[in-house]
Amino acid sequence: MIQKAAVIAAAGVVVAVSVAWSSVSLRRSRLEQAVPIPPAGFPFPADHDDTGWTGPTGDDRPLLERTGPPYPALRFMTVSDVHHLSSSLVEGGEAFARFLETNDGKVLERSEELLDALVQAVLSERPEFLVVTGDLTSNGGLASHRDVAAHLAEIEANGIRVFVAPGNHDISNPWAVRFVGDYTERVASVDAEAFVHLYREYGYDEAQVRDGSTLAYEVEVYPGLRIIVLDTNIYDTNEARGIPNAAGVVGRRQMEWLERRLDTAAREGAAVLLFGHHSVISHTNSGRGMTHVIEDWPELTRTMWDGGAPLVFTGHIHAQDVAALRGNGGEWIYDVATGALSIYPHAYRLGTVTTDGRFKIEGGRLTQDHFLPQDSCHCVDIGGGPVETASDADIQDDSPPFLEWSARVYVESFADRFAARLLDNELTSRLTRAEARAVAGYAAVVSMPHFAGEETNEEDWANPEARDLWVSVAPDQHAAYVQRMTRDRPPFDNDIEVNLTTGQWRTLRR
Ligand SMILES: [Fe+2]
Repeated sequence: MIQKAAVIAAAGVVVAVSVAWSSVSLRRSRLEQAVPIPPAGFPFPADHDDTGWTGPTGDDRPLLERTGPPYPALRFMTVSDVHHLSSSLVEGGEAFARFLETNDGKVLERSEELLDALVQAVLSERPEFLVVTGDLTSNGGLASHRDVAAHLAEIEANGIRVFVAPGNHDISNPWAVRFVGDYTERVASVDAEAFVHLYREYGYDEAQVRDGSTLAYEVEVYPGLRIIVLDTNIYDTNEARGIPNAAGVVGRRQMEWLERRLDTAAREGAAVLLFGHHSVISHTNSGRGMTHVIEDWPELTRTMWDGGAPLVFTGHIHAQDVAALRGNGGEWIYDVATGALSIYPHAYRLGTVTTDGRFKIEGGRLTQDHFLPQDSCHCVDIGGGPVETASDADIQDDSPPFLEWSARVYVESFADRFAARLLDNELTSRLTRAEARAVAGYAAVVSMPHFAGEETNEEDWANPEARDLWVSVAPDQHAAYVQRMTRDRPPFDNDIEVNLTTGQWRTLRR
């Protein structure tokens, strides 16, 4: 365990965290206390044992075999919760600063760089197709949607097909505003019809069949494989309520449509992969978090199993997590959640079906290379290849490297909110503000592997002084938090394979 902690500390990026009480202006401030940020490769969970194949929920009770058409070999990529905010909607000022405080470490100030990096990541991974599982935008503004669509066009221009699912931030969002100084002003948002039009090249025009009641659609990506993109959002009442509804539901009509489509696919010999924004299975290990799961999940999981489509790819929870369900009769379902691209460590996923009927689920992350596109060479082409005209040092750029910056944004945003909660809590309100901020910084760092799907069953690598402080005032609260953040229910969340016939999984890490 000590060895493992040392490995992380050595390999981790050191990011400084403020122990001062937060304010808007402190979000990007120079900070004092160094804490390690989990590096790209986390160690194995402490109780990892390489025992080979096991059931979806980590035990060896008997399972039913999936029936239905076999999946063809394929490789695709998913990203989720891009939460893009167009720079044309930000004129700085207090209103935007206040908005940043509530945004969970999303990289809204450098959102265009994120979109460019997404294009680079997709082009370097070269999947056969990309699915974006919702929350393309921060607040559903038309300008933000247009930026996203333009970047998706760049991906398709390079021969990679793109499909989008709507998320709860994207359609009829009454929070679509421009930030101007101390004020916000409403800007054009996007209703369901406009969404279909904007993303016609990324699903809707390619759809062989669409649901009449929602924005769900089906595409035959190639012979033998169909994808069905669900619309799990509730946006019709947003304008009347004045807030975007974050809840998810499939609804009776979409469910019946899905049943018919799965029946048809099975009859016609095509396997189906499902995609949607909201969770189908709870991804937390604490019994909390059912608010993220679609209301009619029992019906949906039944429909998926009966229809021979036991895999669904989702987003929304901002965590890289694989959850599985085992029915009483041995039925099984996997819900593969992709983390938020807009939040450090900017995770994405690759799904691969191999010719022997196994489904590999791998995790990837944006790297600093993705932020330095190929054409960042300041070059002119005078025939005979580009000639460099300026070195990087000649280019004036004061912004810090993106990942270093976004890790700090994450820790600070998380710690700001967490410190406020600690001071509000009976047990921890006796902490000084500086102490609460230190404990909150520790909590932020402990949370990182959780959201990256790399729970390690331990937290002793993260700022022991702050941990001891927390333990001294509220030991049970600390223990419950650590339990929630460092433990994960099976299966593992990155780099596993699922046997598509038996439903068992195993780790690909050796
Ligand atoms: Fe969402």
